[in-house]
This record gives sequence, C-alpha cells and structure tokens, in this order.
Amino acid sequence: MRVLGIETTCDETAASVVALGRGGNGEILSNVVLSQIAEHADFGGVVPEIAARAHVAAIDRIVACAMAEADVSFRDLDGIAAAAGPGLIGGVMVGMVTGKAIALAAKKPFVAVNHLEAHALTARLTDGIAFPYLLLLVSGGHTQLLAARGVGDYLRLGTTIDDAVGEAFDKVAKMLGLAYPGGPQVEKEALRGDPQRFAFPRPMHGREIPDFSFSGLKTAVRLAAERIAPLSGTDIADLCASFQAAIVDIMVERTRAGLGAFRQQVGAPNALVVAGGVAANDSICRALHRLTIESGLRLITPPPALCTDNGAMIAWTGIERLRLGMADGLDFAARPRWPLDKNTRLVGGKA
Ligand code: KG4
Ligand code: ZN
Repeated sequence: MRVLGIETTCDETAASVVALGRGGNGEILSNVVLSQIAEHADFGGVVPEIAARAHVAAIDRIVACAMAEADVSFRDLDGIAAAAGPGLIGGVMVGMVTGKAIALAAKKPFVAVNHLEAHALTARLTDGIAFPYLLLLVSGGHTQLLAARGVGDYLRLGTTIDDAVGEAFDKVAKMLGLAYPGGPQVEKEALRGDPQRFAFPRPMHGREIPDFSFSGLKTAVRLAAERIAPLSGTDIADLCASFQAAIVDIMVERTRAGLGAFRQQVGAPNALVVAGGVAANDSICRALHRLTIESGLRLITPPPALCTDNGAMIAWTGIERLRLGMADGLDFAARPRWPLDKNTRLVGGKA
C-alpha cells in the first residue's frame, strides 16, 4: 500500500509518499517540507493570510517533488491523504482541495486526516508501537495528554487552559528580542544561563487532572525582565534557563499526573510517546526519559523531522485508516477545530 500525504495546516507546505512494509511497518519513500519561517519571521508568529497564499504558491511543486523523489505516479498510489484540520482554515483548504482533486482525477480513495491524529500515530510509523499508549503532544498550537487506544479512538486526559507550550517559548523569545521560532533560540540561550537565578512559578502543580497552564509563567518572565532591564547577554541567558527549568518541571509533573489518570481510566500504557515541535527540546526529553525509567515505561520520541509538521505523518495516518476501510467522501469539509476526543470537556471555552 502506498499513500500520498499532504500537510498545510500551519506554516509548513509538506508532501510525502509512505509505503506499508510487509511487516506492518511504514517506509518513507519521500518527505518534502517547505517551511515558511522566513515569511513570518518579521511578525514573530504565523500570519494566516500570508500562510494561505504561500501554500497556494508552493503546493503543486511540493507534491510533484514528493512524487518524483518516491519515483511513483498517481496511478501507483492506493490513496491520497490530506490534513483537513485542525488548523488555519485558509491553509487547510489549500492542501485538502489539492488532495481531493488528485483523488478525483486518479480515481483513488481520499482520506481526510486529523492533524492531531497524525502526530499521535507517528510513533507507530517510526517504532511500530502497539496501542494503548500515553501521548504528550507539545507544539506551537497544542499541549495535551491523550490516551491513544486505537485508530480514531483517543481519550483526552488533560490540556492547556490557556497558551500552548510552544507558544510560551515563542512569546518569551519575542519579549527577550530573540528570533522566531523561539523554542530553539531559548534552548540555545538556556545552555549558558543559570536556571536558578529566577524562581518562576510552576502553574497547576499538584492538581490531579493533568491540565497545563503557561500564561502565569509567561507573565512572571516578563515582569522579571522588566525589573532588570536593560538586559545584558547574561540576563537573557539566565531568564531563558530559569524559564526552561520551570517548563521542564511542569512537563514532568503534569505527565506523571497523566500517567496516573491513564492507569485509572485505561490501564497499563505500552509507552510514553512525545510528539510535536517542542519534543525537539533536549532538556524536556532528558527529564521525561528519567520519568519513564522511574515508571518502568518505554519512551518514544520520534526524530525531530517527524516531530514537527510533515507530510509523512499524514500519509501514514492515511495508511492506518485505509487498511481499516476508513476512507472519506470528497464532500468532507475542512475543520478549523477538530478535537481528537469527541467527548472532550470544554476548557477555557475551547474543545
Ligand atoms: O509541531 P510544530 O512544528 O508546529 C505546530 O505548532 O503544529 O511546533 C512548533 C513549535 C514552535 O512553537 C517552536 O518554538 C517549538 O515548537 N519548538 C521548540 C523547539 N523546537 C521547536 N520548543 C522548545 N525547544 C525546542 N528545541
Ligand atoms: Zn503540528
């Protein structure tokens, strides 16, 4: 089985062809990602209209490139998968309509993929992990703890009540004058900073429900920076190190609460899987590694190129769904909001 995957929900225009190996494993035949970071850098964040236009300009070329690298034609495919949400609606429409058009022209099944499910299933593409597992999804748009019980079957255990963790990294970077996206910059500065100079809060600490909150921490960093301004290079490094130390503590403590909730509501997890762009952070991953050793669990962190947005995860989700007979109609509408857990409670007015 070979599936083309298309991803355009945020600021990456991406396409990939993935094949299903004989042993049930995934084989990535091509994985082309065009990042729009340069287009958005001046604004310190993703501008939806700029993103949508950049996807329109690039999508045909990126799909052609992924097909050429995989050395397949549309006829050779068993399906076309495109991310249909959640995300910035203009971008989602570009990728989804492209996917539908190819499916219609080539007479192949179409799969409308939930972008969050694609992040959730990446560990099965890379490591063939069996359900159920605990997923910590940490990106610029999401911070959630989910129990993955099967394809299309997720239980959301906890979520952020305000900002996503990647957003907190990006906002702290912006207030300290660092480049966008902020995560990698903050991590780099933190390497030479003092993590104990500032005592920043650890919001939600000790709560049984594994929810997250970052806005109080972000404000604490801003107030500390304003208090000691103008900032020297050492001040910036110390602020980054102290902020990242707080984030690491929050991630470990909240994930531990998530494990407790998982054991209570689902049973024993096969692994802790970390996905999303923030999973590229080395300090967070090392701390989570210690947590899994202490809990007797396997930790799976997909390689950075598959943690950030990409087409391979969309293609793989297409394969997982197609082999269960879960194709979608060409009338499938794009979904700016699309929670993985249909029974999810509202948090901060959001699903
Ligand atoms: O998953 P992703 O590529 O895009 C979505 O948001 O869907 O995640 C991007 C986020 C950005 O907020 C970025 O600052 C953050 O991931 N990020 C990091 C690191 N690398 C990327 N955050 C902390 N440390 C990093 N090394
Ligand atoms: Zn993502």
